[in-house]
Formats: sequence, C-alpha cells, structure tokens
Amino acid sequence: MLKNLFRFVVRLIKGAKIAYFDSNRFRYWLHKKIGTKFKPKAFNLPLMVLLEPVFYCNFSCIHCPYSIISNKPEFKKSFMDFDLYKKIIDEISQFNNVTLRPFDRGEALFNPQLSQMIKYAKEKGIKNIWLNTNGSILTSQKSKELLESGLDLLEVSIDAFTEDTFSKIKGVDGKILRKVKKNTIEYFRLKNKLYPDDSTKKLIVSFVESEINTSEKDAFIKFWKNYSDRVRVRPFHQHGRLIKENLRTKKKKKEKVERLPCSILWKRVSIDYCGNLRFCELDWENKGIMGSVKNSSIKEIWTSKEYKRLRRLHTDKRFSEIPLCSICESYNEEGGW
Ligand SMILES: C[S@@+](CC[C@H](N)C(=O)[O-])C[C@H]1O[C@@H](n2cnc3c(N)ncnc32)[C@H](O)[C@@H]1O
Ligand code: SF4
Repeated sequence: MLKNLFRFVVRLIKGAKIAYFDSNRFRYWLHKKIGTKFKPKAFNLPLMVLLEPVFYCNFSCIHCPYSIISNKPEFKKSFMDFDLYKKIIDEISQFNNVTLRPFDRGEALFNPQLSQMIKYAKEKGIKNIWLNTNGSILTSQKSKELLESGLDLLEVSIDAFTEDTFSKIKGVDGKILRKVKKNTIEYFRLKNKLYPDDSTKKLIVSFVESEINTSEKDAFIKFWKNYSDRVRVRPFHQHGRLIKENLRTKKKKKEKVERLPCSILWKRVSIDYCGNLRFCELDWENKGIMGSVKNSSIKEIWTSKEYKRLRRLHTDKRFSEIPLCSICESYNEEGGW
C-alpha cells in the first residue's frame, strides 16, 4: 500500500518534468517554484561509493569509453591494492547507510580477489553492495563465491537479444552471448536455490537502449523477466562527450529537459584503482580528480573548499565554469546508470 503510494508520488513528480526522482532534485525544483528554503543540500558524507578493483575489460561496448581510453599509454591494466581497498572500506563502513559499488571503469570480475573484497566490506557492516558485470567470466564457481561473499545485487549488462546485435554492441564474437546467457541463468538459479528466502539478494539484467538494439527491447524484456528479479532498460548517454556518436533512440533524443544541478556532486564519489577520487563517475579520463584517498580521508576531500565551490557553481547554474561539466551532455541522468 505504502509502496504503491510512493510509486504514485514518484510518477507525479516525473510528470512535473523532473528527469527522475531524487530528493535533491526535488528540493531544487521546489527551490525554483517556491523559494530559497528548499535548496539542494550536501549530505555529510557520500551515500554511494564506486571503487575500481581493476582497470581492465575484455569487451569493447560501443556505448562505453573503455576502448577509447584503454589505447592510451597512461591507462594500462591495473589492480587496486588490497591494503588501499581496506583503508577505503574501513572509512566508508562508518558512513550512514552507504552503498558500495565495487566496479568502475572495466570488468571487476578480472580481479581474482573481488569476492574477498566484498566479504571484507560485508564483515565491516556495509549493508548495500551492488556489482555490475558483463557476465562473460561469471563461472558457476565465481557465482557461488560472489553469493557467499555477501553481495546484495548483481546487474548483468547484456544489452542485446540476438548474437548479431550482441556482436555489434559489445565488440566481441556474437557467440559469447550464449555463454553470458548461460552464466546469468545459472547465477539466478543458484541464488534462488541457496538463498530462497533472502529478498536482499537480487539479480538485474540490463539493456542500454540505443538505435542499434531498440528493435530487440521487447523480446529482451520478455525473455529475461523469467530469469531475473528485474529487467532494467537504461537510456544511452554519451559519457559526458567521450562517446562521439549519439546513438539515443529518436524518441528519447527529442526530449529537452532543463538542466538542474547534478546530484552526483551531493551523493556519490568514484575512487580509481590507485586511490584518486573523482567527483564524476563519467569522468573516465581523470579530468576531475579532487584528491587521493592515499593521503587524505574521503571525508576531508568531500568537505573540502574545492568540493563546496563545485556544488555552489551547480546550484548557481554556472555549469560552464567547470570544464568537465561545460561539455557534458549526460546531465539530468545521473543515477540512471
Ligand atoms: C561501465 S560498466 C562497468 C561494469 C561492467 N563491465 C558492465 O558492463 O556491466 C557499468 C554500467 O554502465 C553501463 N553503461 C556503460 N556505458 C553506458 C552508456 N553510454 N549509457 C548507459 N549506460 C552505460 C553498462 O551497461 C553497465 O551496466
Ligand atoms: S560497458 Fe562494461 S563490458 Fe562494456 S566495455 Fe565498458 S566496462 Fe567493458
């Protein structure tokens, strides 16, 4: 009953031309309509932390900047050191209700210590741990380890229904789709077998909708709703402007939304394999590094003058004064990926 009421309110708010529901956006919208009282406010500490256990991927998805930046000499295959990881977890486990996403640029399952890393975070009391994977190396053994590590939510990014489209989108042999399908279905079955009553453990299967795959969307949803807890369709975005071609579907392209402050600045941080904290997770080229968690705490960086300045520029709508934000076309979508 309460859930339905909440959904109804969210739909109403979306109808009020807010790209998606978010308490800070709602405050900002109220601020515009009603007055100063409702300005967005920064949480004392981030609510979501993205960590990069490894910088490496075996796919070259057309919607992803990985293949663009991995050709550059400064972006080589690199792993996060376990001691650095522990330092970060020890700090964020003190944050109130934080969500940990142990992946960032690349395929996190290539770090052989990933399950141990998740286990460590769980033992430290982090309640929400969400992982995204391309599913290609999600063997039965890895599925078991991940489930036993305490992982809450796994999202497998599949993005295509046919092998032909899979090949076009993921930049790999279309036959790999068979393996990804098999791995994902096995994870779902194992999760339901080992944890039949645990509603915190979820599997999402996702689809980044673009001009290339939109014709397969319905078939994809129909198939995957039988083998997942939820099918998620994500709109294609250009990662700021790193992806040159706009492959958004025509219907989505037409929508023009007013630019609001990015709630990422108030809620999330991304920390790469060597400890650099970036204010935007779309910043794959390290243009917005705010500090290193090797030398400072996350709290120190989060509450720094520079962070406050960026937030102020956003609430004042002076986006053009931040180089990264000035060229971004993905605004009003944060939280959508
Ligand atoms: C960058 S990937 C890294 C994790 C993992 N390798 C994977 O593919 O899921 C994280 C998520 O971002 C999504 N993503 C990547 N590029 C996107 C884009 N241009 N538009 C929307 N979502 C995107 C992927 O589908 C995936 O779910
Ligand atoms: S979306 Fe994931 S699987 Fe695809 S290239 Fe990027 S990191 Fe790799």
